[in-house]
Amino acid sequence: MSRFLIHGGRPLKGRVRASGRKNAAVALLPAALLAEGPVRLENVPDIADVHTYVDILEAVGVDVRRPEPGVVEVDASSLAGRPAPYELVKKMRASYYLLGALLARTGRAEVALPGGCDIGTRPIDQHIKAFQALGADVTIEHGVVRAEAARLRGARIYLDIVSVGATINAMLAASRAEGTTIIENAAKEPHVVDVAILLNAMGGRVVGAGTDVIKVTGVPRLGAAEHTVIPDEIEAATYLMAAAGTRGDVVVEGVVTKHLEPVIAKLHEAGAQVEYDADWIRVRADGRLRAVSVKTLPYPGFPTDAQQPMTALLSTAEGTSTVTETIHEARFRHVDELKRMGTRIRVEGRTAVIEGVERLSGAPVQATDLRAGAALVVAGLMADGCTEVSGVEYLDRGYERMEEKLRTLGARIERVEAAVTA
Ligand code: EPU
Repeated sequence: MSRFLIHGGRPLKGRVRASGRKNAAVALLPAALLAEGPVRLENVPDIADVHTYVDILEAVGVDVRRPEPGVVEVDASSLAGRPAPYELVKKMRASYYLLGALLARTGRAEVALPGGCDIGTRPIDQHIKAFQALGADVTIEHGVVRAEAARLRGARIYLDIVSVGATINAMLAASRAEGTTIIENAAKEPHVVDVAILLNAMGGRVVGAGTDVIKVTGVPRLGAAEHTVIPDEIEAATYLMAAAGTRGDVVVEGVVTKHLEPVIAKLHEAGAQVEYDADWIRVRADGRLRAVSVKTLPYPGFPTDAQQPMTALLSTAEGTSTVTETIHEARFRHVDELKRMGTRIRVEGRTAVIEGVERLSGAPVQATDLRAGAALVVAGLMADGCTEVSGVEYLDRGYERMEEKLRTLGARIERVEAAVTA
């Protein structure tokens, strides 16, 4: 168990590069097992969720190599199709992608119900609905989802909820089905598009990804490909918010600025100075920001994964801000921890009402999930004095070398391994 010790109150300054996107990488890795040939993925972030996914792929019988930093080569030519071990699957939500990928590749998938961050009930009924529409028999017994189909057949799938996971899983399952699948009310997130690009590079026929109707024409076989993972917009957003919150001046490089439009808009509205080009964004702030209202929505709305660090940022903005969460049920667990640092935030249903205070003061706080951890790090960088963030293993799931990157921006942050007590 590690902690971050942060001596805050210093403006962050300098340049930092965004890593590959976590939520794209954890979909592209299972997508690669659809190919009967090697798939080379570049710009793969070195984070715990990727390590777990590599372990899962190896456990189901896929060859995985990491020839150099940032590169993962997946070769599922001789896929064994063994069940994925529960201890690995329960560690992350994205293990649900094995269902779609294995079902399409081997006609059979057996995966424990996925784990992941505790941010409310996270059903997978839309994933199951998609597999059933394609002709699979799906059962859930003793916490294990089993999906089987002698032959998947293209179908029209209407998703009742805009779900990133269900959209990608439906694309994976449909990619080798007989005939054409139409996914309606599909999620439009850039990582949905990234998965479609990989499927097409492997010989698939996916059109419309990035819009709310995706058409997948099944092919009998997918093969070798190379693909570069898109940049992580949530990591970038976290560093941009830390820059604005510490009244600093930071350039985040290697981004797709278009993907960060809602974040840029809110930073600008709050009074930060924002400049950008297609692949970099600079944020500066000289004084206190202004209160703003934020509502999370599916892409291209404000991303739920950036909501928690945004709450931390707004805690010192002048006036009363509101942050409304519409995607996940329980994504305000960082608020009680932020209160230890002197914030004035109350949660009313799905809205956090934030009365901006002048300064935050460092305190011991506990990360309860990945982005809650990011919120606490942003707050710790903003606060006077020392903040001790426990639960750094959550941050390690999704942020590559976070403390090193922040140190290059002048932050005083160090990782401390907790003493083992007998
Ligand atoms: N939902 C259902 N039924 C389903 C699927 C989803 O009711 O079958 C609900 C969810 O409970 C949620 C909403 O629909 O209320 C949206 O869920 P979605 O499926 O889009 O989210 P997810 O696949 O569970 C992914 C990311 C999350 C991110 C959301 C939204 C991965 C591994 N996780 O989750 O990332 O918040 O999309 O963009 O890709 C994070 O990175 O911190 C994180 C939680």
